[in-house]
Amino acid sequence: MKIAPSILAADFSQLKEDVLSVAEHADWIHVDVMDGHFVPNISIGPAVVKSIRKHTDLPFDTHLMISEPERYMDAFIDAGSDHITFHIEAVKSPQALIDALHAKNVKAGLSIKPNTAVDAIEPYLKDLDVVLVMSVEPGFGGQTFMYETVEKMKRLASLKTKHNYHYDIVVDGGINEETAAICKQAGVDVLVAGSYVFKASDRKSQIERLK
Ligand code: DX5
Ligand code: ZN
Repeated sequence: MKIAPSILAADFSQLKEDVLSVAEHADWIHVDVMDGHFVPNISIGPAVVKSIRKHTDLPFDTHLMISEPERYMDAFIDAGSDHITFHIEAVKSPQALIDALHAKNVKAGLSIKPNTAVDAIEPYLKDLDVVLVMSVEPGFGGQTFMYETVEKMKRLASLKTKHNYHYDIVVDGGINEETAAICKQAGVDVLVAGSYVFKASDRKSQIERLK
């Protein structure tokens, strides 16, 4: 199981230190980008990604919770994102964005909100590197895991096996020891964890506990 701490739960006044406090044990750094339009909250932009980029070599897994992601993708790539995940609910032609990301050697991800079915992204699964299942309504950290999303993780795992797809199944929202075990059983590859990691006094052992 790979772990991607979400810096949304970090202390932005000491972001470098907070990233370094998890870097040794984390697999990816998850970067939540919110525009106050697609979701009712505003977080960070490319300048922040660029500033932390120089402090770690870990892959930056950028989660765009924004409308019109095609307008800002390049800025997040230039800032140092290794993966760009956008929301199916925010775009009309996902294939063009997936192809544009691959043309820039960036991993392409699609995310579905809790009420969006796997069917909505099925035509694109063969080309995806990341499939992000939201297990809370996007917009805020520290929410409670929605158990009804587990069926979608299982479905994505079985489609992956059946067709030999290569995407990582990533779950985002409300991850703790209990929900991590459920996700693992459902065939998930990567856990995004914000509060669980950053609110702990010993973050390293907290990540190990999840693993
Ligand atoms: C929610 C974000 C998540 C969030 C997870 O919109 O996409 O990445 O930071 O936070 P926790 O782990 O606290 O639920
Ligand atoms: Zn996220």
